[in-house]
Amino acid sequence: MRTRPLKVALLGCGVVGSEVARIMTTHADDLAARIGAPVELAGVAVRRPAKVRAGIDPALVTTDATALVKRGDIDVVVEVIGGIEPARTLITTALEHGASVVSANKALLAQDGAALHAAAEEHGKDLYYEAAVAGAIPLIRPLRESLAGDKVNRVLGIVNGTTNFILDKMDSTGAGYQEALDEATALGYAEADPTADVEGFDAAAKAAILAGIAFHTRVRLDDVHREGMTEITAADFRSAKRMGCTIKLLAICERAADGASVTARVHPAMIPLSHPLASVRGAYNAVFVESDAAGQLMFYGPGAGGAPTASAVLGDLVAVCRNRLSGTTGPGESAYAALPVSPMGDVVTRYHISLDVADKPGVLAQVATVFAEHGVSIDTVRQQGKDGEASLVVVTHRASDASLTGTVEALRKLDTVRGVASIMRVEGE
Ligand SMILES: NC(=O)c1ccc[n+]([C@@H]2O[C@H](COP(=O)([O-])OP(=O)(O)OC[C@H]3O[C@@H](n4cnc5c(N)ncnc54)[C@H](OP(=O)(O)O)[C@@H]3O)[C@@H](O)[C@H]2O)c1
Repeated sequence: MRTRPLKVALLGCGVVGSEVARIMTTHADDLAARIGAPVELAGVAVRRPAKVRAGIDPALVTTDATALVKRGDIDVVVEVIGGIEPARTLITTALEHGASVVSANKALLAQDGAALHAAAEEHGKDLYYEAAVAGAIPLIRPLRESLAGDKVNRVLGIVNGTTNFILDKMDSTGAGYQEALDEATALGYAEADPTADVEGFDAAAKAAILAGIAFHTRVRLDDVHREGMTEITAADFRSAKRMGCTIKLLAICERAADGASVTARVHPAMIPLSHPLASVRGAYNAVFVESDAAGQLMFYGPGAGGAPTASAVLGDLVAVCRNRLSGTTGPGESAYAALPVSPMGDVVTRYHISLDVADKPGVLAQVATVFAEHGVSIDTVRQQGKDGEASLVVVTHRASDASLTGTVEALRKLDTVRGVASIMRVEGE
């Protein structure tokens, strides 16, 4: 074993960074044995230097992250600051100055992954980011390496623990959205401002990363169709139950049936209780992958938290250190397929539509005609009357999102349709 240590600069020492530092210290001997050389924490960049940080030598702490990554003797920079800047400039500077990089930064990778990969390639260094998607769950490496000989057709995932916790609460207790969100906040599962989670921004960043790797195609954050889950009601869950389904916020990356294009989207959807993703409870994450040869695979585990996320960071750190010792780099970006990313209108799926209608003869026929005129075939209809008003629940066969949008626009114009109470896609069948 080499005795000269590999030097690691840690950028950020918060929820994830502090756990990375702790594991580097407590597992130092095992890490050294697995890598073939000791790893030494050479510097820790933070915003507030005076803060007491258990287990961190204060002499290593600096607020000058730029000087740290420019030192020239750093082998690996671990970026766990988060956000776009200064993380982007620090990673680029680190690569320019000879370091390989491990990051947990989904927002940055989803927005600027291509440029960062190009910088890593230009400088002959590694850029690894297993922790950026679904925390501890090994997903990037299985997609990039284990499935490199297969053809992935679909990635269907619960990739945000906060939203899964809220939806699971609504499902299991009958609570409304706000009540479930309040409980998630009180228990520390949701942040004071939950927008990034409940509006699907966090999941959309992960969908962009997953789609890019799964389909060997650049998928930018802007390419991901995104809908949040704040409009979901207890009534939606009752409807889902009647159909033998539950509701999950899903990230869905799909190859079109003809293989010529891909789509990536994040939205709430009904999934059958028999689907493995339906049984993912609480704040857990899971990703269901469908490929030509392997068939169906599911990856399940904690998608966030300091120690679980640090596990993924440490896995990358070991891999990157091994590569440095053997003078090589791991697989970089694979975007050779360069498939076009189709708009949401091209997505084909099933729909559950709940309408408030007048309770009088002929309404059902009128509604059915609108569906037929837009080429959307109806699977089932359920009607419930109350005081001259009625609710009509229509479940369709597979149709394009564009056809469904046209159908709903036309339905809204019918005198007998008082309102469209909810539209939900039905996935995983
Ligand atoms: N938390 C999770 O469960 C989780 C899961 C998966 C991925 N991630 C990703 O991991 C990354 C870190 O998340 P986190 O939860 O650990 O964040 P965090 O607790 O807010 O920690 C951020 C750290 O970065 C430091 N920092 C902020 N601005 C800085 C600057 N300009 N220069 C130097 N240091 C700076 C902060 O310093 P101070 O300590 O002085 O404030 C803090 O130590 C993010 O990209 C996040 O998306 C997190």
